[in-house]
Amino acid sequence: MIQIGLLGFGTVGSGVVELIQKNQSTIAKRLGENLEIKKILVRNLNKKRLFSSEEKITDDPAKILGDNEISIIVELIGGDEPALTYIREALLAGKHVVTANKEVISKHGKELLDLAQKQGVNLFFEASVGGGIPIIRPMKQCLAANEVIKIMGILNGTTNYILTQMTEKNKSFEEALWEAQKEGYAESDPAADINGSDAARKLAILSSIAFNSRITPDQVYTEGIDSVNLIDINYAKELGYRIKLVAIGKRHGNEVEVSVTPILLKEKHPLASVSDAFNAILVEGNAVGRVMFYGQGAGKMPTASAVVADIMDAVRTRSGNRIYCTCYDELNIMNPGHSISRFYLRLRVTDKPGVLSKISGAMGENQISLSQVFQKNTMDHTAEIVMVTYEVPFENLQNALEEIKAYRQVEEISSVIRVEEES
Ligand SMILES: NC(=O)c1ccc[n+]([C@@H]2O[C@H](COP(=O)([O-])OP(=O)(O)OC[C@H]3O[C@@H](n4cnc5c(N)ncnc54)[C@H](OP(=O)(O)O)[C@@H]3O)[C@@H](O)[C@H]2O)c1
Repeated sequence: MIQIGLLGFGTVGSGVVELIQKNQSTIAKRLGENLEIKKILVRNLNKKRLFSSEEKITDDPAKILGDNEISIIVELIGGDEPALTYIREALLAGKHVVTANKEVISKHGKELLDLAQKQGVNLFFEASVGGGIPIIRPMKQCLAANEVIKIMGILNGTTNYILTQMTEKNKSFEEALWEAQKEGYAESDPAADINGSDAARKLAILSSIAFNSRITPDQVYTEGIDSVNLIDINYAKELGYRIKLVAIGKRHGNEVEVSVTPILLKEKHPLASVSDAFNAILVEGNAVGRVMFYGQGAGKMPTASAVVADIMDAVRTRSGNRIYCTCYDELNIMNPGHSISRFYLRLRVTDKPGVLSKISGAMGENQISLSQVFQKNTMDHTAEIVMVTYEVPFENLQNALEEIKAYRQVEEISSVIRVEEES
């Protein structure tokens, strides 16, 4: 019997208890051992729980971390502290650790993996990226013979749900966010989803593994979806694109480009059809080519599926054959200004002759060529200009936009969004 200490009994924690009960006999046959949740740590002892595990519940972490019969700690509290301290203490006590905590792993992954190695125990974190989608273990094991060229992913279900509602139901950003909250996809404070920082944490974890070099969330160039307007979604559709919040990690020699930004994806691009709260990750290896992982990136049972599989793997590899930190390189992070892309631009200008040629002039001076331009006049004597550039370094575009912003005839640079031409 393998005794487990569970830290956290919320959405995922209760899913883990439920899954271990539900699939008990299958798990035991596959593992050759029974799993038992011995104790559960919560913050509030008075909270009503759906499960009748009252006798196991405590608010004292020492009762779990100091229990010698418990060999595996499953951390499902979330956030930085006290989760980080509990993980450290568990590893120091010689216990294997399974966590779904992207915040802790993206910021402190190296320190914790090195500590696990020193202590001769496992630290697994499959559920920290993509919820129920297997991605960490496939990247570390099944794709280990490849050099990864590029990873691209839709890593945040809330923002994908919002963008899907805007694209398919013509809802405004505010209406779509309200809908996401009503359906339980978005938190009451959805800031980390909307501003891209949740996806940046997950990209930092994935890129560290893909490029064998430690990458932290603060190194990821991040833009959220709050500036994406229904007007842009509809222009994108007219041009044959879908707007998605896409995380990209790409190797350029000794540099890695890491970004989370809204992107216009060709309708035929495999990520363009990933809708609602689903997640997907496209990995391009130099041997395998492109492989895509798709599924539910969050939720009680999908996330519990990844956590319980990690527990099973911790049992299987308890006496050795472990993979620790794979960051043996030290690649530089590419200056976001040097990142090359096509761009979609929308500007509001006064409807007078010569404005468009002035804007094109500023573009030309900064070596920017335009692939498409169209103008739509509005009722209030202003015009909307929509342009798509050819590939250009981001800093050239920023310089051109600084000049254009200063023109008296330019009322607003409404949108600047990257465009991916590959499908
Ligand atoms: N929810 C998902 O779909 C999902 C998907 C992928 C990854 N994750 C990750 O999984 C982890 C857990 O998420 P969740 O959604 O299950 O969170 P949750 O529903 O908010 O549950 C958190 C649990 O931790 C307990 N807790 C919070 N602070 C504590 C403290 N200081 N000391 C002791 N216990 C404390 C809470 O106790 P009380 O019950 O007493 O309040 C609760 O049981 C997070 O790292 C999250 O990022 C979640």
